[in-house]
Amino acid sequence: MKNLRSESWFGEKNLEGFLHRSGMKAQGWPDNMIKDKPMIGIANSFSEAVHCNSHLRNLAEHVKKGVIAAGGTPIEFPVISLGEFFLSPTSMYLRNQMSIDVEEMIKGLPIDGVVLLSGCDKTTPAMIMGAASADIPTILLPGGPSLRGDWRGEELGSCTDCRRYWTELRAGNITQADYDSMEEGIYRSPGHCMVAGTASTMAAISEAMGLTLEGAATLPAVDSRRMTLANNTGQRIVKLVEENINFSNFLRKENFYNGITTLMSFGGSTNAIIHMMAMAGRTKNTINLRDFNEISEKTPVIVNLKPAGSKLMEDLHYAGGVSAMLKNIENLIYKDVETVSGKKLSEIISDSNIYNDDVIRTQSNPINSKGSILILKGTLAPNGAVIKVAAASKKFYEHVGKALVFDSARELSEEIDKPDLDVDENTILILRNNGPVGGQGMPESGFLPIPKKLLDKGVRDIVRISDARMSGTAFGTIILHVSPESYIGGPLSLVENGDLISLSIKNKSIDLLVDKDELKIRKEKLKPNYKIKDYDRGYGFIYKEHILQAEDGCDFDFLKAKK
Ligand code: FES
Repeated sequence: MKNLRSESWFGEKNLEGFLHRSGMKAQGWPDNMIKDKPMIGIANSFSEAVHCNSHLRNLAEHVKKGVIAAGGTPIEFPVISLGEFFLSPTSMYLRNQMSIDVEEMIKGLPIDGVVLLSGCDKTTPAMIMGAASADIPTILLPGGPSLRGDWRGEELGSCTDCRRYWTELRAGNITQADYDSMEEGIYRSPGHCMVAGTASTMAAISEAMGLTLEGAATLPAVDSRRMTLANNTGQRIVKLVEENINFSNFLRKENFYNGITTLMSFGGSTNAIIHMMAMAGRTKNTINLRDFNEISEKTPVIVNLKPAGSKLMEDLHYAGGVSAMLKNIENLIYKDVETVSGKKLSEIISDSNIYNDDVIRTQSNPINSKGSILILKGTLAPNGAVIKVAAASKKFYEHVGKALVFDSARELSEEIDKPDLDVDENTILILRNNGPVGGQGMPESGFLPIPKKLLDKGVRDIVRISDARMSGTAFGTIILHVSPESYIGGPLSLVENGDLISLSIKNKSIDLLVDKDELKIRKEKLKPNYKIKDYDRGYGFIYKEHILQAEDGCDFDFLKAKK
């Protein structure tokens, strides 16, 4: 093959070429598998610290078989892996680091194309961001969802049902032993959370954008057909190299619009907004928060997945998967876009079938009407905030309530269950200092717990506001990503207990009903009452100097593409 990037490593008759070839021969590759062959990188985020990605070593072997079958040579390499359960302070804190790792490894290695093996929440956007910046032929292969959870005859979805039962435990409706006994049944296999959480959402968005082969988002992690999919992915990436089609070909504005439409029709995670803004920021394209509202307003939720619905990712696959879902919203998407499979999206859709119309609904029989996720703006969030309307209580769609403010997650957990807490069902709970800077990675602490005092009265939802994020598996009337964040002096920092706050879904607004002059006085008197760890070196130093706010995808300023 002509003009292979890898030839500049392996084709030279000099000392460097000698060393490069001998490095491959040291691993058993003969001459004819090194020279004039598409060299295919497999960026593997396998990790035993990330249960969602713990099967990716096996999956990589099947990608390799496909690469060799198609006439390429595979080179698997590790990249850092980010899991939701173990990492401190948050996995989001390290998403940009992972994207740098992916970008620089792709750029630095002798490869002509790359397959990205991802899974858990941050690993998919981090890989797309890094690969978008490197821009060589690329296919994403997410690891797939875990099998349905099973507990005492009940189907469980992680972690929607872990949260639901945690609330019931606090309310005294189940015992600690009951709760403990769920631990074994919630994840019955490797793979990511199997509700419409962030990992599932990002996988579905990626498939709809054309960054994966068909079925990649929904096929269960341990289904044998995923091994075939991996093999096909390996075969296809060799063809993409031969056709000389870079990743940017699938990262056009229309692909992003299809991704946003999928987010809405899927009833997906609010985190996807941040990730998509960051992904687009790595390209020449610009998308903005208005695009999310415009698309949300015309797109109903048609996929019946927890937390908005009742089913799980496995059900979605058996119902036809993402391509079948797109068939039911084909009037809302750009079908003329190309996908990594070599087919136009229109061909994929026309080959798809819907096998269960309770799981993949029609637009006239949706799970939730249009506007499932909205961007709010107002005096409390001049640069935006997000609400998942599909998971919120209708009675709070138009609501004015008194603020009850917590300055940190620790303060919240110490106070929230006190019997004398000044709270009722109309109160609006506020958590601040949990944004990109103040929260050191914008933790998923936005799912503020219902005070015990209200739980005992049977209350299961009240309005909650923060500059944090929330797991896509959670539910409730929860306003997130308030920007600018409180730690850097956004209006959230000026709220006092008892202030009135107005939420209007109709007007897409969130306002602090305090006189401007009073706010000016508060601003002048504002003293930081919360201090984060100060980094004077290392990654933390880079992070604090360069992290952007939510509306810019929380990317580092220096990683964005020059437009
Ligand atoms: Fe990895 Fe939920 S913990 S996707």
